[in-house]
Amino acid sequence: MSKRVRTAVFPVAGLGTRFLPATKAMPKEMLTVVDRPLIQYAVDEAREAGIEHFVFVTGRNKAVIEDHFDKQFELEHTLASRGKSRALEELGRDLPQAGQASFTRQQEPLGLGHAVWCARELVGDQPFALLLPDMLFRAHPGVLRQMMDAYEATGGNIIAVEEVAPAEVSSYGIVGRGAGPDEGFSITAMVEKPKPEDAPSNLMISGRYILQPEIFSLLAEGVRGAGGEIQLTDAMQVLIRQQAFTGVKYDGRVFDCGSKIGFLAANVVFAMDRPDIAEPFRAELKKLGVL
Ligand code: G1P
Repeated sequence: MSKRVRTAVFPVAGLGTRFLPATKAMPKEMLTVVDRPLIQYAVDEAREAGIEHFVFVTGRNKAVIEDHFDKQFELEHTLASRGKSRALEELGRDLPQAGQASFTRQQEPLGLGHAVWCARELVGDQPFALLLPDMLFRAHPGVLRQMMDAYEATGGNIIAVEEVAPAEVSSYGIVGRGAGPDEGFSITAMVEKPKPEDAPSNLMISGRYILQPEIFSLLAEGVRGAGGEIQLTDAMQVLIRQQAFTGVKYDGRVFDCGSKIGFLAANVVFAMDRPDIAEPFRAELKKLGVL
């Protein structure tokens, strides 16, 4: 039986240059879709999948993420004294339990592979989930939960994928598809941000992974890839010679909230999914002539 995945890593050190000036003093992971920060959605998804240890790889200007996942006594006291028990209860539910969250810093922006490597001491010698909080999913059950089902069947390394338009393959990591169904097929290759003519398929790596700890020693080599950065995809492409990688074409869709259009679309779609907001929001859009 495969070793259980208890730990999830959240790389949150990125500079967020695509959202300046919003992200000058505020981490991009704290941008909100409706009323929840992006990082909260990723943590919720991990918790739904059974994760018990939440490892955040942060950087300078990111202290507010640590505060977000802590108790806020003044606020809780005020909510309690005003009888806002539902809001209070919801705030409590969002938090990892005491001792379940760990924070470390990526001291230099050397790429995603380096950020993951920075988590090695906190993860130890066990499989772990990796969630890139920019990538927000509308999926029920959550994408990591769907991947856990594949992991329980096959073990090894699991990567969530979704089809993208051919013109978009050069913005993502792309996998080659081998035998097996959408719920778990064998991955034959991985390429980071290929030119459309070099892409092995149009299946993008959509920011959710279950990885074996052997990835850390490959990342330690610090080989630079696309964009001069230490790329996780390159290390995975080496590991695939020794270990199985399984692709999961999940049921759901991703919003790339690292792009303005993806982020704005997520806000509209997630608002429309909310029973308390959908109707008044639709009415307002109609009034404004947008719908
Ligand atoms: C990273 C990964 C890439 C993946 C993407 C998903 O790229 O390297 O393989 O497709 O996340 O968001 P980045 O967005 O950091 O350039």
